Amino acid sequence: MTNWNEWPQWSGDDVFRTPRFQFSCSVKDYSLKTNKNEIALLKNREFLELYRDIVFNEPVRTIFELGFFQGGMPLFLADMVAPEKIVAIDWNAPSEDLLDLIKANGLESSVKLFGNIDQADTKKIRSILDDSFGEEPVDLIIDDCSHFYAQTKASFQAAFGYLKPGGKYIIEDWGWTHWPGHPWQSPESPFGDSTSMSNLIFELIMASASASGIIAGVNVVNPACVIVTRGAGLAHKEPVDLAAITHLAGDRRAQLIVAPAAEPPGLLSRIRAKLG
Ligand SMILES: C[S@@+](CC[C@H](N)C(=O)[O-])C[C@H]1O[C@@H](n2cnc3c(N)ncnc32)[C@H](O)[C@@H]1O
Repeated sequence: MTNWNEWPQWSGDDVFRTPRFQFSCSVKDYSLKTNKNEIALLKNREFLELYRDIVFNEPVRTIFELGFFQGGMPLFLADMVAPEKIVAIDWNAPSEDLLDLIKANGLESSVKLFGNIDQADTKKIRSILDDSFGEEPVDLIIDDCSHFYAQTKASFQAAFGYLKPGGKYIIEDWGWTHWPGHPWQSPESPFGDSTSMSNLIFELIMASASASGIIAGVNVVNPACVIVTRGAGLAHKEPVDLAAITHLAGDRRAQLIVAPAAEPPGLLSRIRAKLG
């Protein structure tokens, strides 16, 4: 692991170096491109410092990222954390410049990018995880992909079980429903009138309260970052069905403004039978 007190070295608000690479950052400029001199990264300094806290607190040897864009996170983490393997998907293919940079720095065996993959294609996502990591649990999963409710939930349910117990699943930029003004709340919103991502955050919290062995914790750090910790009560690679693991115990139900997920069939009758 590179010394985070010394690196990254910032030379402006949006420009920094790691030992091997030069990065250019923005949180909104999707036209940025990686070339042989500079890597594009859609994060700001504050967010990268949050990642430092995550990777410092426990060993991170294997990482899966959804939404690699121009390869910024895989290359940043390869230089700062040096994990054994970083695998990432995106529905765009990696550019020739990005692939050349990976090759020129001898990272072909540790950084694997899969283009033309939809994050909602759970069969593909699971087969990439199987082929890439075999039986080894993944330490960290980052979803900085579509930020749509259905797609994000589909990937989460398919991939969460591949984490090690205690492993972290980060979902970025979930809070767009609550960001005022243009473009989030105008007709040009990239999310149109699609289902709010906040529903998924509530569902994760309810599932964690219902089945902490599966979802050990949900840390809503800020509107750009929620960290979901995997519990030990899930078999390796087992898919998660958030609706099925969420329940409200007891007969007198407090009213929820957010609709609760469906209960597993027979749960209440089993509880009643136990109570006599
Ligand atoms: C916010 S950018 C990712 C930024 C990148 N993680 C970084 O830190 O530089 C989102 C990426 O997700 C990809 N994407 C959006 N929807 C997707 C989907 N349904 N499946 C796969 N990739 C998707 C886009 O092509 C884009 O590259």
